[in-house]
Amino acid sequence: MSAFGSLLPPPLDERRGIPLYYRKSEEEVRQDVYERYDELVARQTALHLADELHGGYPLQPLADYLQPWIPAGPARAVADVGCSVGRLVGDIALAHPDWDCYGIDFSYQMLRQGRDYWTAGKSVSANLLRYGYPLESFTGHQLPNLQFALADAAALPFPDHSLDLLINTFLIDRLPDARRAFTEWQRVVKPGGRVVMVSPLNFLKQKQWEHFHPPIKIVDHLLREGWQLLDLTDPLDLEEPMDKRGNVVRWRTLALVLER
Ligand SMILES: C[S@@+](CC[C@H](N)C(=O)[O-])C[C@H]1O[C@@H](n2cnc3c(N)ncnc32)[C@H](O)[C@@H]1O
Repeated sequence: MSAFGSLLPPPLDERRGIPLYYRKSEEEVRQDVYERYDELVARQTALHLADELHGGYPLQPLADYLQPWIPAGPARAVADVGCSVGRLVGDIALAHPDWDCYGIDFSYQMLRQGRDYWTAGKSVSANLLRYGYPLESFTGHQLPNLQFALADAAALPFPDHSLDLLINTFLIDRLPDARRAFTEWQRVVKPGGRVVMVSPLNFLKQKQWEHFHPPIKIVDHLLREGWQLLDLTDPLDLEEPMDKRGNVVRWRTLALVLER
């Protein structure tokens, strides 16, 4: 394996150490709910980086689902697309110090929080006082083998056939055209490489519901595109804590493991 981060080409631009492979306009930033530091970034931080607030990682069943599909062996290249603050790929990078790991997202604010926590060794906090949580900070890591980058899930900065594992969780129903992303993932994953995809299929657009509901339509589409299905779990039930009281959002996700 060559140097960590070496799969990434020179970026279009860079912002505080985060390479940018897409130039978002001011309007795009304004419209993007995931750029809202005090709202969704805080919620993602509390969900993914603040286990002590919840007595454990609330999405542990998601991590448990992923675990057996992480390929064995040395020198793997792994990306989490739509990684937000980078929990799943951060844990993989921690467990495999010789693997080359990437967290890709379209939100600079999410990536900055992820970068601060996982690679810059800073403490991060999530101000969720209005949900009853105390204001605490969570100390991060200084992982040399994890690189965050801003890119579109459907236009990734990786070379052809360069990744052993691409994961994406709670992403595809947020994309304007998930099928473009599926095609792109086929380009970047190695033959024999895997995609693990977990989504509540809570689409935002009517067109997406038409394309992908019921979920057999997604599976049909992926099989037609040449993927092999290694696992289908439906539902994989996950709970997202909402407040200190214990209110939760219950997500009924579809989990797929595909091999190229
Ligand atoms: C609902 S959050 C899920 C985050 C995390 N993967 C999880 O499981 O909780 C969706 C994430 O996808 C990112 N995202 C949305 N559109 C994207 C795109 N076109 N390319 C890459 N990431 C995108 C958002 O910025 C956000 O961080």
